[in-house]
Formats: sequence, C-alpha cells, structure tokens
Amino acid sequence: MQFLKIASFLATAALATAANTVTFLSQDHQDRTVYWTGNPQMAHIADTRVPGNQNVTISVPDGWVGNFYAVADGSPKVPGMLGEVAFNGWMGITYFDVSAIVNPNDKNGVKQMWPKGENQPVSGCVKFPCAFAYYAPDDVQTRATMVSDLFCSLGNSEVGITGRAWDDHPESPAMARDFVQGKWTTKGHRAVVA
Ligand SMILES: *[C@@H]1O[C@H](CO)[C@@H](O)[C@H](O)[C@H]1NC(C)=O
Repeated sequence: MQFLKIASFLATAALATAANTVTFLSQDHQDRTVYWTGNPQMAHIADTRVPGNQNVTISVPDGWVGNFYAVADGSPKVPGMLGEVAFNGWMGITYFDVSAIVNPNDKNGVKQMWPKGENQPVSGCVKFPCAFAYYAPDDVQTRATMVSDLFCSLGNSEVGITGRAWDDHPESPAMARDFVQGKWTTKGHRAVVA
C-alpha cells in the first residue's frame, strides 16, 4: 500500500510551513536558462537565469505542478532532462523526480533533485543513464518529501561543489508518476484528469 509506505517514511518529518522554492546549483562554468512549464491552470514562472558556478533560488507558488529543463547558453532551446515537481500535492506532500522521457540525450542540464537540508530522497543521476530517473512513463521513480525547498543540480561537476557522492537511497519509497503530475487530490482521491 503506497500511502502507508510514504506515511511511515515521512512520519517524523516536520510539516512544511514556508513557501516553496527550487534552488538551482550550477556545478560547472556554463551559464544556463531554466524554462518552466506548468500544468494547465498553473501560474507562469519566468525563465530563470543560472550563471555558471552559482546558486539561484526561485519561489514557486503554492500547489504548483509542472516541470522545468535547463539549456546552456549557445545550445539549441529544446526540452531536455526534466525536473518534475508537484508542490503541496496529495496529502500536502511535495513530489519530485527527474525524467529522461522527453530527451534522454540531455546530459548537460538537470541532474539530480533532493530536499534542501536533507540528503534524501534523491532523484536523477550524476551521470545519465542511471537507475534513478524516469525512462518510461510506468517506471516508479517519483520521490516524496515534507520539505518545501528543493535543490536541483545542473551540469557536470567540475570541482564537486554540490558533490553528491551517491545515487541510491533504497530506504526512500518511490511512487508512481501520477503523484508528480497532480493526478491525486489533496484529499486522497484520484483526480479526474482530462
Ligand atoms: C551552493 O549551495 C551548495 C549547497 O548548499 C553549497 O555547497 C555551495 O557552496 C553553494 N555555492 C555557492 C556558489 O554559493
């Protein structure tokens, strides 16, 4: 029963209080633009400039569901490795994952996501491909956290700024992609999705 796994994993977590953020951690010298795409009805989030070797924090509206990808300056603007998020989703939990479904060849953009201040759970890879990202829609790679601030690393680490040394957190339950797509309502009913 997926909910019990999530609930017990998060049992000791504090309730999220502050506003939602994503902090992009650039791990190399390249300047990038992050492009956001919300689900229908979601507020527009402006393109985010992330200079090389810097961290940039963006506020995300309550309940926002959607994704983003990063494009290095000088590269064509095509959707890449996606960071998928559902803030304050089903049961108030924040869901996230890294998805290679749209463009598995993007190895220079979104890398890994994890909650700020905690090292787990993590989604995505230091080097793609790995076993911790979506490659098919029915994979089970979505992660859950009560932390409403997420980190997302970008680019290939040259000096190990963020230096995540491991990928696997077998103790952290993974769940179906529905959860990061906003297909569950906060009351626990499967939402009707057009
Ligand atoms: C970016 O944030 C990470 C994680 O908190 C930190 O280790 C790193 O020093 C920061 N880098 C900069 C340039 O502020």
